[in-house]
Amino acid sequence: MSPGELVRLNRSETLLFKGENYKPAPKSQEFTVLKYDAAQKLVYVPYYKEDGTAVAVTVPVEAVEGVARDGWGELLRAFEAFRDQRFDEVPRALAAAGQDPALKALASALQPRFTGFLTAAGVALGGRAQAFGNLLAGMRETAVQLDKAGHASLALALEEGLDKVSARVQAANPGGAPALAGSKVDREPLRERAVAGALGVNLGRQAAALHRMLEAKRWVEAGLKAEPSRPDLKALMARVEKDLGDAEDDFKAANSMRKHAGGAVHALSALDHGLKKCADHPKLKELKKEMESAFEERTSPPVTPALVAASGGSSAAVLEEARKLYTARCTECHDLELLDSRSMDGWSRAMASMGGRAHLSDGQRGKILEYLAAAQRTLNK
Ligand code: HEC
Repeated sequence: MSPGELVRLNRSETLLFKGENYKPAPKSQEFTVLKYDAAQKLVYVPYYKEDGTAVAVTVPVEAVEGVARDGWGELLRAFEAFRDQRFDEVPRALAAAGQDPALKALASALQPRFTGFLTAAGVALGGRAQAFGNLLAGMRETAVQLDKAGHASLALALEEGLDKVSARVQAANPGGAPALAGSKVDREPLRERAVAGALGVNLGRQAAALHRMLEAKRWVEAGLKAEPSRPDLKALMARVEKDLGDAEDDFKAANSMRKHAGGAVHALSALDHGLKKCADHPKLKELKKEMESAFEERTSPPVTPALVAASGGSSAAVLEEARKLYTARCTECHDLELLDSRSMDGWSRAMASMGGRAHLSDGQRGKILEYLAAAQRTLNK
């Protein structure tokens, strides 16, 4: 568990900020490790806010597993390692990136340039800077080419790494260093493009993980505008568009089914399905509002005498308390599910994992399950 490593949640989790509940995160959301606190067994990962800044949140180490990087991830890692002067990692990451057929040509063109430059830099740092000047100019040119090819993030990491190496070479050659080539790209716009690309990936992934697909699409679009060749952005866009398309289909189905006699139940299923794909779909959200009372009837019906009778002997007061807890505490992070979307066994299992998240005692969980069982029985009558 080291900084820069890519990890994925192996279960749904609540991200903690300074030890307090901060945001829910679904299973399989990916993060880049910031640091690992071995004593507390906590992994620090970034959570990105709308303004592009990130806060360091924690997850328990047992909730994450390592993820192999894809070719693009390796290429990015090579440049970030260069930027951060971890030169040993560069050739290894470039070789790994070259395994991806789509990146093979780029990675194998870059490999000798980096190797030549790093060798010359090593010699220059030892006090003999002659060959370094030319190779530096060549690398500055490489940054220009990468930016032109739509890879602002690679170009920026390269530029920043070159600045650092140049400063070190100058320090190692007092008076004797040759004139060193400066940046050939306009740095501020380059930085803005790289930041927009990274935000597109980070905020886009974060929104997509919560199925906020319209929000995700906005971030990804802005990212692609700034950095059109990022494969991770292109892949994310394809996924977002597919889910948006599915949600649109669900909307159409729900909208037509609800017009038929007895169609409300089916319409609600389609609605529920669609909102799971895209939680911020405006037409689905509006339809859900219109169908609010039908929705309540299928997720959390009021406690009626029939419902009390369907319970295994619970009082109306207990069932009422359970319903209040259920509708208040289980909606903190997501909508309620349709009662018949899972069996009572399924509800018990969900309660076992969710009860803790809602900070419910065993007694409270038991009462909610009694309410759900009675509600399910009245539903199926
Ligand atoms: C602190 C946030 C939070 C609270 C509170 C919460 N949940 Fe969840 N719940 C989640 C997240 C996040 C997921 C998504 C899980 C995933 O994608 O794997 C989820 C998923 C679910 C699911 C579907 C997945 C599954 O586990 O089978 C059910 C059902 C569910 N919650 C029920 C409940 C119930 C019942 C309560 C109240 C006791 C509750 N939740 C309270 C965060 C929460």
